[in-house]
Amino acid sequence: MSRILNFYPGPTSLPLEALESIRDELLEWRETGMSVMEISHRSKEYDAMHNETKDLLAEIFKVPSNYQVLMLQGGATLQFAMIPMNLLNDKESADYVVTGRFSKNAYETAKVIRRVNLACSTEENGKFFRIPARKEINISSGSIYCHLTSNNTIFGTQWKTFPDTGAATIACDMSSDILSRKIDVKSFGLIYAGAQKNLGAAGVTVVIIRDDLIERSQKNIPDILSYRVHSAKNSLYNTPPCFGIFIMNKVLKWVKGQGGLMFIEKQNEEKAELVYSLIDKNPEFLKTRVDKGSRSSMNITFNLPTEELESRLITEAKEAGIVGLKGHRSVGGIRISMYNAHGINNIKVLVQFMEEFLQKNG
Ligand SMILES: Cc1ncc(COP(=O)(O)O)c(C=O)c1O
Repeated sequence: MSRILNFYPGPTSLPLEALESIRDELLEWRETGMSVMEISHRSKEYDAMHNETKDLLAEIFKVPSNYQVLMLQGGATLQFAMIPMNLLNDKESADYVVTGRFSKNAYETAKVIRRVNLACSTEENGKFFRIPARKEINISSGSIYCHLTSNNTIFGTQWKTFPDTGAATIACDMSSDILSRKIDVKSFGLIYAGAQKNLGAAGVTVVIIRDDLIERSQKNIPDILSYRVHSAKNSLYNTPPCFGIFIMNKVLKWVKGQGGLMFIEKQNEEKAELVYSLIDKNPEFLKTRVDKGSRSSMNITFNLPTEELESRLITEAKEAGIVGLKGHRSVGGIRISMYNAHGINNIKVLVQFMEEFLQKNG
């Protein structure tokens, strides 16, 4: 077996231990004589695994008891619609801070559903390379929530600390950095994330929501879109993404086994330091447009002096068993997405490859 070093932005690399455990249980799961894909979602065996997964996430992420963990479908993108639909009536409004493509999508989606204000945008010439200062954000009076995106996957920026938004509670898209660091969950009203980066495979979306916001769920929306209904039914209103939840269960056990977020956060900082110090030592060759204080530890973006060199780096990386380095089509250049599954040794291999490439071409 030869596993490649995978730096795709998501779906992406999963911990090998989790994959092996999934493989070992694929045909016969927990002495049921069948796979977890084949068992009823109403069975006691499935129910135990479903609750265990939810509880593991709450334990690792230190979710306070007045929050619920929901495991839904529709990707983070469905949350762009569910949040305004549930949390606002037709007279209320919310604020959006736009720091990248996905936060812009969240804002544009909310705009067609309820009244929302653009509290701040860091867009310049169609690109977003920085996180704003608190003084740039205009929270409007009576705003119910303020929407942020904690890590901007495409551009490689990340909120290092979160702003105080007063009475407007924070609703935060953590799709590309959930479980990458310790977070004080009680500073947020709602956190959501698609699973396909740090939590598992595509198909499950986690929503962590405070009880009073569940109570806000509007009554005139379909049950399938209601936080109140999903919470009351323990994310079993309809058939849940059982296999995706099983994968998440394995990944969460792996996170816990690694030493939880204490270890993961430290390792992510060390990984980012390795790559950024290479960038800072070679500013003429590895050119990053990202503001220094806004640098992401999950997605690192930069350009080489020419597109031809960028293509050569991607080709030679592939020959060396390293894939997923091509920047998003709207930004170009190189992007290294190094989620939790990458240990420090993978990043050392990548940095060594880049150093050799620099020696040959720099
Ligand atoms: C920060 C962020 N938000 C939202 C999305 C969209 O997620 P999904 O494809 O699960 O709807 C992505 C996808 O990469 C993302 O990185």
